[in-house]
Amino acid sequence: MTEYLIPTYSRQEVAFNKGEGSWLWDEQENKYLDALSGIAVCGLGHSHPAVTAAIQKQAAEVIHTSNLYRIPQQEKLAETICKLSGMEAAFFCNSGAEANEAAIKIARIFGNLNGIQLPTIIVAHKSFHGRTMATLSATGNEKVKLGFEPMVSGFTHVNYNDVDAIKTEIQNNSNVVAVMLEPIQGEGGVNVPDKDYLKAIKELCDENNLLLILDEIQTGIARTGKVFAFQHSNIIPDVLTLAKGLGNGTAIGACVVSGKANNLLYPGTHGSTFGGNPLACAAANAVMETIVNEKLDANAAILGDQIAASFAKKLADTPGVINIRNKGMMFGIELGRPCSDLVKQGLDNGILINVTANSVVRLLPPINMNEEDAAIMVDKVVALIKGFLKEE
Ligand SMILES: Cc1ncc(COP(=O)(O)O)c(C=O)c1O
Repeated sequence: MTEYLIPTYSRQEVAFNKGEGSWLWDEQENKYLDALSGIAVCGLGHSHPAVTAAIQKQAAEVIHTSNLYRIPQQEKLAETICKLSGMEAAFFCNSGAEANEAAIKIARIFGNLNGIQLPTIIVAHKSFHGRTMATLSATGNEKVKLGFEPMVSGFTHVNYNDVDAIKTEIQNNSNVVAVMLEPIQGEGGVNVPDKDYLKAIKELCDENNLLLILDEIQTGIARTGKVFAFQHSNIIPDVLTLAKGLGNGTAIGACVVSGKANNLLYPGTHGSTFGGNPLACAAANAVMETIVNEKLDANAAILGDQIAASFAKKLADTPGVINIRNKGMMFGIELGRPCSDLVKQGLDNGILINVTANSVVRLLPPINMNEEDAAIMVDKVVALIKGFLKEE
C-alpha cells in the first residue's frame, strides 16, 4: 500500500526482503541480480558479513550520542578517509546532498573571507548534486528544478568536459570562488570526461585561488577502480564529497577538505544531529577496511574492464547501441532511443538495472561481484538490449 506515501518516486511493484552478495529476493522468493546496488550504495553487496557484524556489534553497544561528545568511530573514519585520499579533515552528515551543502557553505565562507561580494560556484550542465535547494540550484538539469523556483543564487553553469568554458567564466566573473564537478557524471548519463580534464581544472583553480570541489558521491569508495575517482587524475581536490557507498546502506555522507579549504568552519558554523554517529561510522569503518584489505579498488578496475570488453564484444554489431562507457564498475550503455521501459523488462527477467538521461542503461553493480555473477549480468543485459532494440 503506497497511498500514504508522497509519490516522489514511481516505484516498481516489487519489494525485497532478503539480499546476499549481488542477489536480492522478493516477497515471493523470486531471485534478482542486483546490477544497481541501491544506486551505487551497496558496493560490497548485500548482507556483507563484515558490515553486518560491525552494525550488530555497534547497535548492541551505543547507536547515537550526538556531536556534542567525542565519537571514536567517527575519528577513526576521518583518519582513514584522510590517509587514503591525502586530504586533511572531514565533516560527517547523512546523505550526499548534505555533503554538498557543506561543500557549498565552505566555498561561500572562503569567498566571503576573501572579500568576494557574491561568491559564485561554477558547475556543469547535466550535473546532479542533490535535491535540497542549494544542491538543486547547483544541479545542471532544468527538469528537476521545474516548479521549485526561485533557485538559490551563486551558481553558474558551463558545459562539462570543456576546460575553455571554465577558463572563460573565471576570466569574465570576478565573483567565482569555486568549481564543483563530478569526476564522472552519473545521473547525467555516465559521462566520462577526457583524461586530462580534472588536472587542467585543478591547475586553473590553483592559479586563480579557487576551490576545486569534487562531488564523488557516486564515483567514490572504489567504484571507478581507485578508492576516489580523482586519483585517476593525479590531483588532490580542495573539497571532496562522499556518501552512497561509504556506509553500504547506512546513512552517511562526508565533506572532506584540504589546503585552503581547511580551517574555515569552526564551532557554530555548521552541524548535524545524526551526522557521523557511532552506528553509521562503525558500518563505514567496516566498508573502508574491507576495501583496503581486499584491494577492492583494484578489483573494480580489473573486473570493470573485463565486463566492458564483454559488452563491447557482444553488442559490437548491434544497431542502436551508440556507445559503451565505463570506469571501473560504473557502466553506461547509450542506446539510440529512449529506453526507460528496460527497467521493468529487466525486473521481469530477474535483473535490476537503471536508465538515466533517457537513453543510457546505467549499471552500478557491487564492486566485489564475482566473475560468475558478472557473466550472468552481461548476458542478461545484452539479451535485454538486443530484444528491446528489435521492438519498434
Ligand atoms: C553525484 C551525486 N551527487 C549528489 C547526490 C545526492 O545524494 P543523496 O541522494 O544521498 O542526497 C547524488 C545522488 O544520486 C549523486 O549521484
